[in-house]
Amino acid sequence: MTKTIVIAGATGGMGRSLALDRLRRGDTVLAVGSGPGDHLRTAALGIPHGEERLRFLRADLSSIAENRRVIEHVTVHHPVIDALVLTANRPHLRRRETPDGLEYTFALYYLSRYLLGHGLREALEASPAPVILNVAGAGNTAGSISWDDPQLERRYSMLRAQLQAGRANDLLGVSFAAQAGDRIRYVLYHPGFTDSGSLAALPQPLRTLLTVYARFAARSLDQVIPPMSDLLDHPPPAPLTAIDRGTPVPLTLRTFTPATAHRLTTLTEKLLTTQK
Ligand SMILES: NC(=O)c1ccc[n+]([C@@H]2O[C@H](COP(=O)([O-])OP(=O)(O)OC[C@H]3O[C@@H](n4cnc5c(N)ncnc54)[C@H](OP(=O)(O)O)[C@@H]3O)[C@@H](O)[C@H]2O)c1
Repeated sequence: MTKTIVIAGATGGMGRSLALDRLRRGDTVLAVGSGPGDHLRTAALGIPHGEERLRFLRADLSSIAENRRVIEHVTVHHPVIDALVLTANRPHLRRRETPDGLEYTFALYYLSRYLLGHGLREALEASPAPVILNVAGAGNTAGSISWDDPQLERRYSMLRAQLQAGRANDLLGVSFAAQAGDRIRYVLYHPGFTDSGSLAALPQPLRTLLTVYARFAARSLDQVIPPMSDLLDHPPPAPLTAIDRGTPVPLTLRTFTPATAHRLTTLTEKLLTTQK
């Protein structure tokens, strides 16, 4: 049976490859990205009826209002969705703030995923086998939540922001699974270092260094996409699963502590209340 799949971050990298893979399988794909999505649309033309089954939604997911607009649109036009794939991210060397006054990585890489997951819960619960695939850094224990400075106003670095959001996504999986019951399967997925062809946003000399390094050390999209796609067809039996490059990660790891997950939910809800 074909599926309806929302991919947040579908105009480039893994999200785009997964979108094309699912279009080839006959699914309807609701692709979200902040760019115009031209490459995705052009590639979809080469897939039988691909263009008809691709719905593109341009949205800046670092903005709370834009996430809410996406949720509203999806809910109205697609009351049943089978999978939500979360891949949007964009590292920044220097600290940036969103129009909501939030640190950019926190807003895009974590908060957007929080909003989309919870906001699309009802549409997911209407599917016979719903799954959320949150592509981040499960299994990595580096980094932490800066509880006294979550917007990293005092001590920002690109790495600190990326690791904080990665740990926040681990905790998001824990709290979502606890709140949403066992209908929706939540999968925290670490693809490993992947040559997703999107280093252009990084500053020099980091871009050149990583491009060279990727040539030798990175996994190709052809390697990482099939297991991700398979998880959409065969969601794991448990409400929460963490996978690092194909290997299950034990949920006893300190990065999945339920009390810490609860603490982050409280912080997030408080922050959203003040943003209304
Ligand atoms: N690549 C790796 O080695 C690696 C390793 C571990 C984990 N991961 C994680 O895997 C995920 C996918 O990585 P990737 O390498 O495929 O990333 P990528 O190639 O950089 O793609 C990121 C996607 O996010 C979208 N995006 C960026 N800013 C956005 C915004 N403000 N609003 C909406 N969409 C936005 C981009 O589209 P637009 O440009 O159109 O906005 C693009 O489709 C990320 O969460 C990343 O942290 C990657």
